[in-house]
Amino acid sequence: MTETDILPQPAQKRVFIKTYGCQMNVYDSDRMADALAPQGYVPTQEIGEADLVLLNTCHIREKASEKVFSELGRLRELQDEKRATGGDMMIGVAGCVAQAEGEEIARRAPVVDMVFGPQAYHRLPDMLQRAEAQRHLHPALKKAVIDTDFPEEDKFAHLPAARKEVTIKRGLTAFLTVQEGCDKFCSFCVVPYTRGAEVSRPVAQVLAEARNLVEAGVKELTLLGQNVNAYHGVDAAGRAVGLGELAYLLADIPGLERLRYTTSHPRDMDDALIAAHRDLPLLMPYLHLPVQSGSDRILKAMNRKHTAAEYLRLIERIKSARPDMALSGDFIVGFPGETDQDFEDTLTIIRETGYASAYSFKYSTRPGTPGANLGDQVAEEIKTERLYRLQELVNQQTTDFHASCVGKTMPVLIERVGRMPGQVGGRSPYLQAVHLDGSPDLIGAIHEVEIVGTSTNSLVGRLKVAAAA
Ligand code: 5AD
Ligand code: SF4
Repeated sequence: MTETDILPQPAQKRVFIKTYGCQMNVYDSDRMADALAPQGYVPTQEIGEADLVLLNTCHIREKASEKVFSELGRLRELQDEKRATGGDMMIGVAGCVAQAEGEEIARRAPVVDMVFGPQAYHRLPDMLQRAEAQRHLHPALKKAVIDTDFPEEDKFAHLPAARKEVTIKRGLTAFLTVQEGCDKFCSFCVVPYTRGAEVSRPVAQVLAEARNLVEAGVKELTLLGQNVNAYHGVDAAGRAVGLGELAYLLADIPGLERLRYTTSHPRDMDDALIAAHRDLPLLMPYLHLPVQSGSDRILKAMNRKHTAAEYLRLIERIKSARPDMALSGDFIVGFPGETDQDFEDTLTIIRETGYASAYSFKYSTRPGTPGANLGDQVAEEIKTERLYRLQELVNQQTTDFHASCVGKTMPVLIERVGRMPGQVGGRSPYLQAVHLDGSPDLIGAIHEVEIVGTSTNSLVGRLKVAAAA
C-alpha cells in the first residue's frame, strides 16, 4: 500500500470551463483544469452537472465584457435552479476581462465567487478554498476573491505539467505556451495591459513539456505567445535563446513531426528564425504575420514601428528561405483617422502579399489604450463597408489559394475518420482540412496525399500509394 492509498481522497467534483478568445486561452483553460485536478475536480462538458463554472474571458475587442455579464446572468438562473433542488455551483471569471475589470465584475455580478487574471492560475486552488470558506455566509457578507496582480514570481514555474489525459484528449496536435505578454504597445491593443510584460518560459521547461506531449502521441505542436517570435527563454547556461534557436532544439525531439507558432510581430522575424524556416522541414510553411494596415500613416499611428514596404520586403526574405511559404494575417479597418486612401493602401498590401487566409476586424476602442484618446473616429457605416470590401478580397484570395493546391501532392496529418463512411480527414501543412478515401488505419500518421479538388473550406485528396520498387 502506498502513502497515497491511505490519504483521504477528495470527493470528485466537476468543473465546466467556457473559453473565449485566442488559443492562449484554450491552453490556459487546460492548465486551470490541471491545477484543479488535485482538488478533486474533473472537467465536464455538461454545464448542468458542474460544481464550478469558470469563464475564461477575452478582452481584445468590444462587447467581450458585455458577453460576460449576460453569461453571468444566465449562470445566476442556473445556480438558482440548482439551489432549489438542494445543489449548488460556484462561479469564477478568469482571463483578460477579469484582469481588466476585476472590481467591476465583483460589484456588478455578486453571483461571482472568484475573479482572477491570467497571471494567477497557479493560485486557483488557494482562491477556491478562500471562496468555499465564504459559501455559507449571508450573501450580503460574501465578497468575491479577486486576484488580478501581476506578481514578480513566474506563473509558469508553478503550473503543473500537462496531465496525460489532457494531452491524449488533444490527440495528435497540441498547443504549448512558450511566451506570454507583450511589450509592443500597439496603440489599439489591450494585451500589454491585460497580459502584462513579455515573459518567456525557460528553454528546459519548454523542451520538457514538448517531450511529454510527444510521448503522449502528439505529432504537431503549435507554440503559443501573444508575441511568440519575441521569445527569449534562458537556457541552462543562462543565455537567452530566440524562437529560431528553440525551433532547432525542438526539431531534435524524436517523434515530433510538425511545428508551428503563433502570433508573430513583423519586427521580431529575425534572421535566425528565417534560417530555421529554410533548414527545418518540420517547421510548417504557413505563417500568421499580421500587418493590420497597408498605410504608413496608419501603421505609425498604430505604433507598429514598421512601414508597408518593410513588411513586403520581409515577406520576400521569408519566401526566399522557404518558397512554399503561405501567409495569414490580421487587419483592422477604421482605425481613427483612416481615410479612403489609407484603406486603399490596405487593399494594395493584401493584393501584393496574397494571403491564404486572413482575419479582419472593425476597430473598436479599448479603454486604457492610447487609441482610445484619438479623435477622428471613423463612422460605423464606413467601417462596415470597408470590412465588407476587405473580406471580399481576402475570401477570393483564400479560394484562389485552395484552388492552387489542386494537382499538388502534400503531406497530410490524418487525424480522424471522415464525414462519410470509408473516409478519413486531416490537415495539410497550411491547416486546410483535407478529406480522402482511406481506412482508419491511416489515422495518426502523415501521408502523402494528392489534392484532386476543393469543396467549401476544405480540400479533397487521394492517397498517394508509393510506387512498387
Ligand atoms: N479593435 C479591432 N481589432 C483589434 N485587434 C486587436 N485589438 C483590436 C481593436 N482594439 C485585432 C488585431 C489583432 C487581433 C488579435 O485582433 O488585428 O492582431
Ligand atoms: Fe497587441 Fe501589438 Fe502586442 Fe500584438 S504586438 S499583442 S497587437 S500590442
